[in-house]
Amino acid sequence: MTQDEMKQAVGRAAVEQLKNKLESDSVVGVGTGSTANCFIEELAKIKHTFDGAVASSEATAERLKSHGIPVYDLNSVNQLDFYVDGADEFNERFELIKGGGGAMTREKIVAAVAKTFICIVDESKKVDILGEFPLPVEVIPMARSYVARELCKFDAEPIYRDGFTTDNGNQILDVHNLEINAAIALEEKINNLVGVVTNGLFAARPADIILVGTPNGVDILTP
Ligand code: 5RP
Repeated sequence: MTQDEMKQAVGRAAVEQLKNKLESDSVVGVGTGSTANCFIEELAKIKHTFDGAVASSEATAERLKSHGIPVYDLNSVNQLDFYVDGADEFNERFELIKGGGGAMTREKIVAAVAKTFICIVDESKKVDILGEFPLPVEVIPMARSYVARELCKFDAEPIYRDGFTTDNGNQILDVHNLEINAAIALEEKINNLVGVVTNGLFAARPADIILVGTPNGVDILTP
């Protein structure tokens, strides 16, 4: 199985997880990225079984709409049973690094609201220690250099994602050389820097279920 086929397989497996659990008034949280796009393709096939979706990015909102799936503002939704999204890295504690696509702030908000966060990945995303993938940090533009100097004190190397603006109008620092052993503490510490909007560590709110695409099929990981 190629990596693309593994992404398609976990997209299908995520829809299998949702089937029979959705009601006609259910709203599904939908993530961002190439694996989430595979999920959207499959979700569209059962669109008659639920009400609509909340999107974690403008790109995802457009894609959902193009499939005829209504997209709601999160503020108008009372309950979100499921959020389905990809990740850049995951560990055995179900902690994640996200934000390769720069959408982690909205992703984190939707994940916070959802009862169940189903993470869909191919097996290349599994790591023993988070941090090989540079940790994305969304910053208010005027704070970028200050936050970068503060992040250097973590013995890390923040690199400005030049030319990229988030859906929230902010900028991103990709933080290299982090070896993340205490993910919850680091997530909080970075979030506490003035000017940081959020960072791509999903440790305080990790995934609940991880569907991992492998050459032999999809592994369903539960805690
Ligand atoms: C976007 C994300 C994505 O979920 C993450 O980058 C994984 O993307 P892909 O499925 O394309 O590998 O966090 O902000």
